[in-house]
Amino acid sequence: MSSETKEVVEVPAQSLSCRICATEHPLDVIGTCSKCFGPLDPVYDWDALRATVTRERIAAGPASIWRYADLLPVAAPAEARLAPGLTPLVPAPRLADEIGVRELWLKLDTANPTHSFKDRVVAVAARKAQEAGLGTLSCSSTGNLAGAVAARAAAEGMSAAVFVPADLEPEKLAAAAVYGPTIYAVDGTYDHCSRLSVELSFELDWGFVNVNLRSYYAEGSKTLAYEVAEQLDWTLPDVVAIPIASGALYHKVGQGFGELLGLGLVEGTRPRLVGGQAEGCDPVARAFRDGRPVQPVRPETIARSLAIGNPADGDFAVATARETGGAIHTVPEDEVGENMALLASTTGVFGETATGVTLGALRAAVADGDVDPRSRVVLLVTGDGLKTPQAVAHTFAPVHIDADADAFVDGVLAA
Ligand SMILES: Cc1ncc(COP(=O)(O)O)c(C=O)c1O
Ligand SMILES: [Zn+2]
Repeated sequence: MSSETKEVVEVPAQSLSCRICATEHPLDVIGTCSKCFGPLDPVYDWDALRATVTRERIAAGPASIWRYADLLPVAAPAEARLAPGLTPLVPAPRLADEIGVRELWLKLDTANPTHSFKDRVVAVAARKAQEAGLGTLSCSSTGNLAGAVAARAAAEGMSAAVFVPADLEPEKLAAAAVYGPTIYAVDGTYDHCSRLSVELSFELDWGFVNVNLRSYYAEGSKTLAYEVAEQLDWTLPDVVAIPIASGALYHKVGQGFGELLGLGLVEGTRPRLVGGQAEGCDPVARAFRDGRPVQPVRPETIARSLAIGNPADGDFAVATARETGGAIHTVPEDEVGENMALLASTTGVFGETATGVTLGALRAAVADGDVDPRSRVVLLVTGDGLKTPQAVAHTFAPVHIDADADAFVDGVLAA
C-alpha cells in the first residue's frame, strides 16, 4: 500500500492498547498485540470527551451510528452511504407477559441495510480500510458478516472476498452473493475459515474486518449500547439479552454502557448482560458455568450464525458477565425454533436463529431468578428470520381447503 493513498484524518481515538499486557500500538491495521498476541482496543481521551460529548451534540448528529463518531476509532464518512444504526427500539408487552417480566423492549437490528447488526461493525472497519488505502474488504463469516462486508464493499466501490463454510444456509449465501463479492466456500467449519483468514492476513494487502481490522470492527458494537440508552431517554435498562458467537458483541455492549456512565450521559449501574449460546456450540456458556477458561468445541448447531467453536472474545465475555451480574445460558437446540415462533407470534418480529437463542437465554435467566420479574429488559434482535426460515418449518401447518366459500364457512370454520 502506498502512503499516498492513505487519508490524513483526525479521529477521536489516540492509539490501540493491548487488553492483556497494556502495550500501546499506533492506530494501524494490525489485529493483535505485537508482544503477546492479545486483542487491541482503541484508547480515547476520556477527559476531553467528557467536556465535549453531550446528549445534545449526539442528538444533532446523523440518524445512524455516525451520531456517536466522537466515541469511535474512525472519522465519520463524508458521504455516509447505507449508514447502519439508529434501528427501532419497540415495546413488546405481550411477550413480556408471556415470559414474566414487567417491561420488555426489542432492539430491531434487522432494520440495518443487510438485516443484521453486522452492518455496524463493518461500517467502522470499512472506514478504517479506506483511511488506510486498502481496496479489498474481506472476512471469515458464519453468514451475516459476509453479507454486510459484500454490501458495504458494493456501496463504497471496493472489492470484497469472503470466506464461509461450504455448507452455509442457502438464504445466507444468496444474501451475500447478490452484492457481487468473491465467495470462497471452505470445506470445514467457521473456525477453519477463521484460521485461513488469519494466515492470509499476513500475506495479502486486504482489510480483513475481523482480523487485521478487528480493533475497529469490534468497536462498532458499542453503538448498540449507546442507542438503547439514548432511545430510553438516556436511562439504562436493568437487563440486556445478547447472543454470543465470538463474544465481541456481548463484551463491547458491556463496554459501551460503561463508557456512557463514565461520560456522565447516564446514571446508575451497568445493565446485567444475559448471554445466550445454543447447546450444540456453547463454549462460552460452559466456561461461565464451570468457572474456567473457554475450551474450544466442534460446533453442531441449528444456530449457524453463532457456530464459532473457538471464540476470540469468549473469556472477555465471561468476565463481562461476572462484572455486570449477568449470566450466560445454554439453550437447547429444540427450543431455538420454538422461541423464534414465540417472538414472531407475540410481537410481529421474525428474528433469526440467534434471536431464538437470545430469547431462550432470557427465559432461562428469568426461570433461574437471575432476572427479577420487575426488570426493564432489552432483547437484541441481531438478525433476520428470513435468512433462517428452515428453523421454524416444523412450527406451523397450513390448513388445506377447497376454494369454496360455503364449504369454508359451513365446514372448515364451523368444525
Ligand atoms: C445474527 C448474529 N447475532 C449475533 C452474533 C454474535 O456476534 P459475536 O461474534 O460478536 O459474538 C452473530 C455473529 O455472527 C450474528 O450473525
Ligand atoms: Zn499484549
